[in-house]
Amino acid sequence: TSILVLNGPNLNLLGTRQPEVYGSTTLADIEQMCGDWSEKSRCGVVFEQSNHEGVLVDHIHAARDNHNGIVLNAGAYTHTSIALMDAIASVELPAIELHLSNVHAREEFRHKSFIARVAVGIVSGFGAYGYVLALDAMKHHLSR
Ligand code: DQA
Repeated sequence: TSILVLNGPNLNLLGTRQPEVYGSTTLADIEQMCGDWSEKSRCGVVFEQSNHEGVLVDHIHAARDNHNGIVLNAGAYTHTSIALMDAIASVELPAIELHLSNVHAREEFRHKSFIARVAVGIVSGFGAYGYVLALDAMKHHLSR
């Protein structure tokens, strides 16, 4: 079993980016956490980040041949991208929508999600630990 953890725009800046909202954990720290989870859970994890919508679409397409599920923190594209929604729907892999922050406690424009329409479920508000929660949830979903 293999899970793609895909990160969208500005998440490369985690650690220094609005730490009061997103915490002080860096994306490299989170990748390490996912690697540790992978070893402990005996489940493959591939970790990617891009600031470009089309590159994220390409990663989702490639996942069809290489992975069993996708954990997606699409960043702001969550709220805007029909292209990412369509990509998830097209590859027919289960996807979990992920956010570090609780998007529903924030601005109105973050309450809308295109990804949610094609996601198995959503993890939002648990900071970096949300990645581990989402991986556990995906592993459980794939074993059902
Ligand atoms: C985010 C929430 C989004 O609204 C925001 O645009 C991000 C990060 C999160 O992880 O909390 O870039 O996806």
